[in-house]
Amino acid sequence: MAESAPSPAGKPPSAPPGGPVRRPGGPGGIIQKMDKGRIAHVVAVGSGKGGVGKSSATSLLASELRRRGLAVGVLDADITGPSVPKLYGLAGPLVDKGEGIEPARTASGIPVISSQFLVEDEKTPVIWRGPLVTRLIMQFFSGVNWGPLDYLLIDMPPGTSDVPLTVFQTIPIDGMVFVLTPQDLAVLIVKKAMNMARDLHVPLLGVIENMAYIDCPHCGKRIDLFGPSRVEGVAREYGIPLLGRLPLDPAISAGGDAGTVDRYASADVGHIADALLASIANQEASRPKVL
Ligand SMILES: Nc1ncnc2c1ncn2[C@@H]1O[C@H](COP(=O)(O)OP(=O)(O)O)[C@@H](O)[C@H]1O
Ligand SMILES: [Mg+2]
Repeated sequence: MAESAPSPAGKPPSAPPGGPVRRPGGPGGIIQKMDKGRIAHVVAVGSGKGGVGKSSATSLLASELRRRGLAVGVLDADITGPSVPKLYGLAGPLVDKGEGIEPARTASGIPVISSQFLVEDEKTPVIWRGPLVTRLIMQFFSGVNWGPLDYLLIDMPPGTSDVPLTVFQTIPIDGMVFVLTPQDLAVLIVKKAMNMARDLHVPLLGVIENMAYIDCPHCGKRIDLFGPSRVEGVAREYGIPLLGRLPLDPAISAGGDAGTVDRYASADVGHIADALLASIANQEASRPKVL
């Protein structure tokens, strides 16, 4: 995480491709969004609160896009609650071979970066103040050897705190997906996070309802655990698509515990990936063209 040293001639080093772009005025200037470099689409995955399955949905989606032959990476921006490495069964340490930090790779070849790789074990916390977390997130985006990517998925920290604000202000996000569970809706917290994204001009690509239903293992009957879905209503209210619903499936939690989420595939996950790709295409088609 070292600051780059001044060049011998005393001139400031030229910004690396994909590095942070600052307004004139030096380090005290206002931080602008970083360059996308060789990443075609940056999609953030957020939620109102933790525990709704945001990291699981991010990882499942990344694996599905990978199965389709797309180059996809995952940036775990949940610095204090990193869980993507656990879901994929990955561990640090990270190395730098001269082309930036080398991300870890899942079994299917998805590059992953996470604060989890910077600490000794799963129980060691990252206790950093905001400015340092900001620097780390910027480094995770621009200082990592992602290679060319079709999609970079960002597992956002939940809520509307300092860190999501940093991500919105520094990373050039093309759009955002929100994961919610039926009971999450009851407290309306997710709407705060969705409103924050909207207020910061991040296009909303759709919502995913997680733990929406369960298929009875005995009779196969589908049970809506929390009654009829209210997520559709939220999607309608915001004028965005309901990308799909994921069941409460013991295979998802078991896969997460075993680090084998990369291998979990289902018609629901496929459907969500289709809907997400369509929403991104739609959003891009409606973006005003700058001449
Ligand atoms: N659809 C699901 N079915 C079963 N377990 C799930 C499902 N989604 C998430 N989980 C489990 O719930 C826990 C929290 O999920 P996680 O993705 O870490 O949530 P978040 O990132 O929102 O905090 C994990 O143990 C995960 O395996
Ligand atoms: Mg998480």
